[in-house]
Amino acid sequence: MTKSTNIVWHDSKVSKESRRELNNHKSAALWFTGLSGSGKSTVSVELEKELHTLGIHTYRLDGDNVRYGLNNNLGFSQEDRTENIRRIGEVSKLMVDAGLFTLTAFISPYREDRDKVRAILDEVEFIEVYVKARVETCESRDPKGLYKKARAGEIKGFTGIDAPYEEPTKPEIVIDTDKLSLEESVQTIVAYLKEKEYLK
Ligand code: PPS
Repeated sequence: MTKSTNIVWHDSKVSKESRRELNNHKSAALWFTGLSGSGKSTVSVELEKELHTLGIHTYRLDGDNVRYGLNNNLGFSQEDRTENIRRIGEVSKLMVDAGLFTLTAFISPYREDRDKVRAILDEVEFIEVYVKARVETCESRDPKGLYKKARAGEIKGFTGIDAPYEEPTKPEIVIDTDKLSLEESVQTIVAYLKEKEYLK
């Protein structure tokens, strides 16, 4: 791949702050991370509905969906997962800039990749939500039958089986779906957003 040269940044006359003022709320990236089957998609879908009801402008990016389009040239090697997360990080930054509450649901198994996304956003704009569940729980849920395939050797490099998942060390929010109901999970995140004054 050839890198672009002779490129110049163009500032917009509408700032992030003025977009936020127009929306009457802040914007940030809620970065869900966790094993396949931990509940990232389920919780983020439900949370988005709740935020929408509260009058918050949102957009949700989800692993499987994004891999149908924007990232359909990427697989599951470490290198491709890193590129997947880099692109989603950049897209999230644009969406936060556009004044949206962005919810991302990607395994994002490597700490360094997540930390790079954190670094390209302002400190308060990156909210890491660790959707925690034991691999045994995820495997027993197995909503897509992928753990079964991984155990049978039909999928190589499956996260939690024969590919790593690096737990966040300092996530802003931990949602333990072994213990919390869906409603409790959503309300835990809403409570955090209110306490930290992201929501009024
Ligand atoms: S990553 O690691 O962040 O780049 O992965 P992500 O883009 O979130 O995609 C994860 C979904 O892809 C399916 N899938 C796999 N997951 C993990 N490992 C392997 N090898 C794999 N192959 C396919 C799986 O449906 C994941 O969806 P979720 O929603 O996490 O269950």
